[in-house]
Amino acid sequence: KMETFISGLMSKMTVEEKIGQLNLVTGGEAVTGSVVSTGVETKIKAGQIGGIFSMSSPSKIRAAQELAVKHSRLGIPIIFGMDVIHGYKTMFPIPLGLAATWDMDLIRETARIAAVEATADGLNWTFSPMVDISRDPRWGRISEGSGEDTYLSARIAAEMVKGYQGSNLAANNTLMACVKHFALYGAAESGRDYNTTDMSLHRMYNEYLPPYKAAIDAGAWTVMASFNDINGVPATANKWLLTDVLRKQWGFNGMVVTDYTGINELVDHGLGDLQTVSALALKAGIHMDMVGEGFLTTLKKSLDEGKVSIEEIDEACRLVLKAKYKLGLFDDPYRYCDEERAKGNILTPAHLAKARETAAKSFVLLKNDKQTLPLKKNGTVALIGPLANTGPNMPGTWSVSADLENTPSLLEGMRAVLGGQVDIVHHLGANLMSDPHYQERATMFGRTIPRDERPEEQIIAEALEVAKSADVIVAALGESSEMSGESSSRTDLGIPDTQRRLLEALLQTGKPVVLVLFTGRPLTLTWEHEHVPAILNVWFGGTETGKAVADVLFGDVNPSGKLPATFPQNVGQIPLYYSAKNTGRPLAEGAWFQKFRSNYLDVNNQPLYPFGYGLSYSTFEYSDIRLDKNSITADEKILATVTVKNTGNYDGEEVVQLYLRDSYASVTRPVKELKAFQKIFLKKGESRDVSFEIGIDDLKFYNNELQWEAEPGDFVVFIGTNSRDLKEAKFTLR
Ligand code: IFM
Repeated sequence: KMETFISGLMSKMTVEEKIGQLNLVTGGEAVTGSVVSTGVETKIKAGQIGGIFSMSSPSKIRAAQELAVKHSRLGIPIIFGMDVIHGYKTMFPIPLGLAATWDMDLIRETARIAAVEATADGLNWTFSPMVDISRDPRWGRISEGSGEDTYLSARIAAEMVKGYQGSNLAANNTLMACVKHFALYGAAESGRDYNTTDMSLHRMYNEYLPPYKAAIDAGAWTVMASFNDINGVPATANKWLLTDVLRKQWGFNGMVVTDYTGINELVDHGLGDLQTVSALALKAGIHMDMVGEGFLTTLKKSLDEGKVSIEEIDEACRLVLKAKYKLGLFDDPYRYCDEERAKGNILTPAHLAKARETAAKSFVLLKNDKQTLPLKKNGTVALIGPLANTGPNMPGTWSVSADLENTPSLLEGMRAVLGGQVDIVHHLGANLMSDPHYQERATMFGRTIPRDERPEEQIIAEALEVAKSADVIVAALGESSEMSGESSSRTDLGIPDTQRRLLEALLQTGKPVVLVLFTGRPLTLTWEHEHVPAILNVWFGGTETGKAVADVLFGDVNPSGKLPATFPQNVGQIPLYYSAKNTGRPLAEGAWFQKFRSNYLDVNNQPLYPFGYGLSYSTFEYSDIRLDKNSITADEKILATVTVKNTGNYDGEEVVQLYLRDSYASVTRPVKELKAFQKIFLKKGESRDVSFEIGIDDLKFYNNELQWEAEPGDFVVFIGTNSRDLKEAKFTLR
């Protein structure tokens, strides 16, 4: 039915109208790139626009849709997109924080809520999930993905797609997903945004591509090409990537959109002028051109000159129309334009409650000496630091639809929860950083943080005066939200200078100090780890950050987040990730330095906090691993079981993690790879058997011929609380 309808429609379309469908413009409400579309109204009427993004509210979208439906020759409806990345109005933690929950149901629910809110506000397409693996925290966009691990990211990618798209894309509360940025954007050289990627096929297939594929297998109907160069051909013009891998190998039959001016940027990549690169992109497998209008302005000429074929234009147009058909826009172009739904479905108490729960579950307790935490619900707390009273910084990066002005700050959120029980006094304590220009770059898009131009010592002295009366100091420090995200790469991953000096002064008071760390990436916290008794990493927790921090600091919620990316000791160790190769000269287990082995002179090979790490107010003890057999054939499964006991004084959740190592293979294999996990809840004193089934599929990898196979031989199975502290056992694949 869909094919017949679309063929019928296309038979009436002129070439210009077909090319018009490939044009995606910005409605200009949110700044997500440096070019803003012009003449939108006129172009809609002329049939030159297929989609609009960054426009919201049922009334505005209805008005734009009316222009298309009533005033363009064929009345083809417009598709409306937006970057709904970690919530729409109800903001959830940044994706790296969501990943730290390791809670797949919860992550899916957050995507579902985002879809309910966004569709109620007129939208039907989101540019999410972002699934770029990154092992380089210098790259600011590590905040937007699920971190360093292939398996965890792939699981999350699938859940997000299910949450957005539901079971029926044509329902008025489901959003079409767009997996991005295809591909390997997170491997940008030196962590500098938009930089080159050069990678072996073997690594791509095993480590970087699976999350995109998982999103597609879960039904994501659109894909966004990435900005970066891949082995000499930028993704936007990369036919091997967009056609051979995506369509032929993976069977993807949806639509591919550029990332912003990705086509125009091919000119700077050095592939030719706008006409040439637009033709290259179309031929490679791009169907929609975001903002740059290379397709709109050059494809007809290229067709006339024989540089592209009508079949190529038709194919792109057909896929855009299919997306609209799947969304039900041809049945009812105003399906998503219901003012009543907008009133009743956004920022509801239920959504806010879920945001608070999710935020608390995303927090990672990095250190807790002498049970500094949880705090007692009485006395006075001094909440000090530049991130303590800034609501607009709470949602974190890529929250273009958030109501920043009405987001409570940490101080406001904590007071709302604890008012009457705990007296909370506050001071700025320090500027975000000493360099005003850096601060300006770090607080763009309304994420302002007040700046105090008086001498630093004076500001700190004032803060100490405020802290004098307190029983405990909570230091709200770290990054502002715009210090991660797009075009926010950093080379120094420490807490900025001014804040470090404030922290030193606070510690000198001798009062207990808790560092509530805001960050969009792994930071280098070696000094802080050595000196601060308790560190709670809260990422950027979204709308309900303040309340959620209060919940965790005061023990109403026991922290259970686990790091989805390694925290290095220093920047020189980067890239540092748990699933590395052994090398031919590995450092002996536990050794610091050995001459002629793979290591550094000045720092050991260990991270500060490994992947999968995170403390609880409780403690969990793991038994040895019990295997139900010592070897399996390809048809058999092995059952690996551990007993986990909550040995502490609090009920709590624990993420039980299973890693595998293929000891010998035809290609070198990582020292371990995450293959399964279970998040369990144990009451204090309770113990439980946790079992995992391991089968042939868990042992497969892409070999040098890129065949997905398992090789017989010895394997090690590891189970434990993080990627470093693990029990192990061995088995054989016969
Ligand atoms: O979806 C985004 C992408 O992640 C970065 N460039 C702009 C796009 C649209 O806003």
